[in-house]
Amino acid sequence: MFRDDQLTEEARQVLLDNDRGSYTVPTKGLYPYQWNWDSAFASLGYATNDMNRAWIELESLFSGQWPNGMVPHILFHELSQDYFPNPSDWGAFGGPIPSSGISQPPVAPTVAKILWELDREVGHKRVESLLPAMLKWYQWFMDNRFQEGVIVATHPWESGRDNSPDWDKALSRIHVDAPLDYSRKDTLMVNEEMRPTKEEYDKYYWLVQLGRSTQWFESELKVKSPFRVGDPGLTFIFMRAIKDLIALSLEFGLETTQLEEDYNRLTEGTSYLWNSELEAYAARCTKTGQFADSMSSASFLCWYGGVDSQLMYNHLCRILKDVLFGIPSLDSRSTKFDRSRYWRGPTWAIMNFMIALGLKEYSYSEAEKLFEATKTMIKKGGFAEYFDPFTGDPKGGKHFTWTAAVWLYLAGRF
Ligand code: GLC
Repeated sequence: MFRDDQLTEEARQVLLDNDRGSYTVPTKGLYPYQWNWDSAFASLGYATNDMNRAWIELESLFSGQWPNGMVPHILFHELSQDYFPNPSDWGAFGGPIPSSGISQPPVAPTVAKILWELDREVGHKRVESLLPAMLKWYQWFMDNRFQEGVIVATHPWESGRDNSPDWDKALSRIHVDAPLDYSRKDTLMVNEEMRPTKEEYDKYYWLVQLGRSTQWFESELKVKSPFRVGDPGLTFIFMRAIKDLIALSLEFGLETTQLEEDYNRLTEGTSYLWNSELEAYAARCTKTGQFADSMSSASFLCWYGGVDSQLMYNHLCRILKDVLFGIPSLDSRSTKFDRSRYWRGPTWAIMNFMIALGLKEYSYSEAEKLFEATKTMIKKGGFAEYFDPFTGDPKGGKHFTWTAAVWLYLAGRF
């Protein structure tokens, strides 16, 4: 076990090591670019001791916004040979900075609201200049990802939960006939058993190629792509973003009617994700109407998005009894549960953190337990990418920005 003050110092060092000036990489080597929701968490980490740097992180993220409002999931500021797929593989040239062609969960508006609440003096000007871009991103989600009343992921990477079983059914409809010509870089750095399989990776790349063939033209992709899955994660995180955008807009005297209407549409829309067999929110393929057959940690973001549910609460209590370190990325009783493989079982500090934030707002005592479990997990395992939910052992990559950032925020107890 590490000591709190020692860990705080190390967490700052992780951020420093991953800092590239105006943006922060998730970790050196494995992820050498700016990732969207990672950056939002990095900003939260910086906010504990350097508010200016915290805002710069968000500003650099929005500097890659496409003219259509999309904020890409990866910004390739400086080319690296450590990562695949690179800009030429994506062929996505819609924005000012080379990027991927998809987005990622919009945590940034929520972080902007937190930063602004922590320091309104500094925050006022920064929000004022960032708000139009954030609103434009929200509109992009409504125009391009709002289907069946919820937000769809158009690629597993867009959800941020790459190999979650939430995508298994939709991916099973993709058939990669000819062998694809590419070589993975991730498995050179992390044990293969902790990463997505080759079959999954083939399909991820197949989807990238499909997007590239349409030049990332949304309306064409909507028709052509077999992958459009209603995602509890994107939906609840987006709902939360809208709530926070409403609060920020009110501060600047902006009209909020549309935001409120859309929030209400999404609240009603969440019934599309309710799987009455599982008695839980679950991912659902909009092409077939089929539900994922298990529940992931994203389903527990309902409170974060502003939706209370007794049945979800019952699941939460059950799972918290099964495992020691918070909410695993897959229901621990699912037959697909794998404690080491990425989003198919391990616990992620950021998910625990967001779930706990939501629970706290509904005054559930489990919020504190989850915050504490997250801290204990990091004390045991350090700043790992993710953790074994039973032992807290570190898994995946090391020296992770978002795990360090969650530590800093929780240790500071803002
Ligand atoms: C993996 C994660 C994703 C994250 C990225 C960088 O792809 O699944 O959520 O943004 O790594 O850390």
